[in-house]
Amino acid sequence: MGEKMGHAIMVALPYQGHITPYTNLAIKLASKGIVVTFVHLEFIHHKLPQPDPFSMPRDSGLDIRYTTISDGFPLDHDREDDNYWESMFQHFWIRVDEFVGELIRSEPDLAPFLVTDTLFTWQTPVADRHNLLKVSFWTEPALVFSLAYHVQLLRQNGHFPCKDHVEEEIDYVDGVKSMNTKDLMPYLKESGTRSLVHRVEMKAFEEVKKADFILHNTVYELESETLSALNKIQRNYAVGPISFSKNLSAYAVSRSLWSESDCSEWLQSKPPGSVLYVSFGSFLQASKHVVGEIAYGLVLSRVSFVWVMREDADLPSGFRDEIKERGLVVPWCDQIRVLSNPAVGGFLTHCGWNSVLESMWCGVPMICYPLDYDQPTNRKLVVDDWKIGINLCEGECVEREEVSEKTDEFMNGGVSERLRQELKKVGAKLHQALESDGSSEANFDQFVKDLKAKLAG
Ligand code: UDX
Repeated sequence: MGEKMGHAIMVALPYQGHITPYTNLAIKLASKGIVVTFVHLEFIHHKLPQPDPFSMPRDSGLDIRYTTISDGFPLDHDREDDNYWESMFQHFWIRVDEFVGELIRSEPDLAPFLVTDTLFTWQTPVADRHNLLKVSFWTEPALVFSLAYHVQLLRQNGHFPCKDHVEEEIDYVDGVKSMNTKDLMPYLKESGTRSLVHRVEMKAFEEVKKADFILHNTVYELESETLSALNKIQRNYAVGPISFSKNLSAYAVSRSLWSESDCSEWLQSKPPGSVLYVSFGSFLQASKHVVGEIAYGLVLSRVSFVWVMREDADLPSGFRDEIKERGLVVPWCDQIRVLSNPAVGGFLTHCGWNSVLESMWCGVPMICYPLDYDQPTNRKLVVDDWKIGINLCEGECVEREEVSEKTDEFMNGGVSERLRQELKKVGAKLHQALESDGSSEANFDQFVKDLKAKLAG
């Protein structure tokens, strides 16, 4: 009897910044001859602009089956609330467990395995009950992974939980070049230890140590030392940036949870490189004070800008009148399309990892204003290590005068030219990694080979 075909079971973590790379991972797996069952939570399914996000890839011959699972809450439940996540953290695995059990029973001729976002913390209980291989997908830089992975080592050195305002060097994590504790993720700091995010991350990093394979949405050449050091402990594969994998765009999958405003006509009227794109991602909002200072700073400056604002209630009244045709505020857009537009010359970003990768890919220098999670650590990579971005402000406070000076200098002075030179080198690594002989392609193929061998064994 022939070998059974691999069957990836994938339940998406319900956040835009996770859905996008995870969706792309599903297509990539299917393009390697693996059957994929892709599951969205019901409430996410109801937000999607199209009823089946995978109909195009399926028409092109990929075997991706799409379905939904309930999180046990009514569709209109407030999911911003920590209680929701507390409940998901404790109980959601039971629903997944039932779902996976039924799915496996209905497909006896396939060889199932579980692919989860590293931050969805139920991988082990579900996989072990059904005797499945575990693939963990990490959507942030390897540096962040390594720091969270080595939390016990940080503890031994007095850096976990790290006192909030202490600035000391971390120079003892294999593969991590010396860095300051101020750049640690906030959930590793004392003030962050009571948060649910802290508990989720801690649990996630207990779980990931039991994974059979770990996929990273990064590029080996960008973070080679960190990845090599991790590889000495567990099998890690850098396969990013997954969103730009060859032929993916041909499948026309909609990944956005909100409808996208078309900015191209507005951008067309602007000179090349003159527009600052401003976005703080999909789910964290900068505080009203910060939004106000940035808004006033942009008014004082001379730059043109596109600003993505999910809720624009925090914008100062009269802001739209003051900026007139110099600024465009939209609730959501196709970010990659905007970053690829020749009119865009800079990105004021919160440093979410997808945004950083997209900016690097499109050759757009960044002004960084990290909000939370991995973003302060990502900022260090962008500004201090790779020198492809600058900080929006040097202290913790954002002042409108500083915003205005920084953005003017960034968009019109020599700053962005210097950053662009570095971007060329970094961007080339990303593009090269996805060539047919590039490292990410090779790593993905190696992963599929190793996976198939383990499934067969
Ligand atoms: C968080 C973490 O900080 C990040 O590192 C992790 O990978 C995901 O969760 P998030 O706030 O979601 O980040 O930001 P980011 O990672 O940048 O992802 C946002 C995504 O939304 C990007 O892919 C971006 O292209 C997309 N986006 C954003 C749009 O498509 N349109 C918009 O208008 C704004």
